[in-house]
Amino acid sequence: MKNYTLSKSFKVLIRKCRMEDLPDVIKIENLSFKYTYPSSIFHDYLSKLFFVADENKKIVGYAIGDKHRHLIVSIAVHPEYRRNGIGTMLINEILKNMEDYAVLQVRKSNIDAIKFYKKNGFNEKNIIKYYYIDGEDAILMSKKIG
Ligand SMILES: CC(C)(COP(=O)(O)OP(=O)(O)OC[C@H]1O[C@@H](n2cnc3c(N)ncnc32)[C@H](O)[C@@H]1OP(=O)(O)O)[C@@H](O)C(=O)NCCC(=O)NCCS
Repeated sequence: MKNYTLSKSFKVLIRKCRMEDLPDVIKIENLSFKYTYPSSIFHDYLSKLFFVADENKKIVGYAIGDKHRHLIVSIAVHPEYRRNGIGTMLINEILKNMEDYAVLQVRKSNIDAIKFYKKNGFNEKNIIKYYYIDGEDAILMSKKIG
């Protein structure tokens, strides 16, 4: 997987995630989410659509998709690297590898992510009440592909 692209300010390579990238992925996850996945989940997804954004050998973002479930599982960009087009590059890599449609759940309060997904062609479909462990609702969003 090679895909060197200039984001707005950085030369970023979008490539498959490797085992040795996982500590950096988990650091970005911890910086991005209050409630985090157990690290074993990341190992399990190595065989799926799991991409990282590599800026001169530094991992600055990641995205995970599950083709069979048509699902965007997780996406995050290091806080210092946001608003540079890196999230868009990552989600596009996942969508390129999916068919028909993609869905995702996002916290109702995560306005920035909702704006990001809308900018990337996702529409709000449904509210899933009390979806998250702390009782917050999720918004189900979807996008047609092709
Ligand atoms: C959501 C996230 C992955 C976006 O990554 P990013 O690299 O900053 O996104 P991009 O630079 O590609 O943004 C593309 C467009 O989305 C919209 N967007 C992205 N972040 C936004 C924000 N904070 N506020 C408003 N619009 C935003 C803008 O239209 C942006 O284009 P612009 O910068 O030219 O205005 C990043 O904010 C993040 O890691 N958030 C924390 C983790 C998270 O909430 N993940 C989603 C969980 S469901």
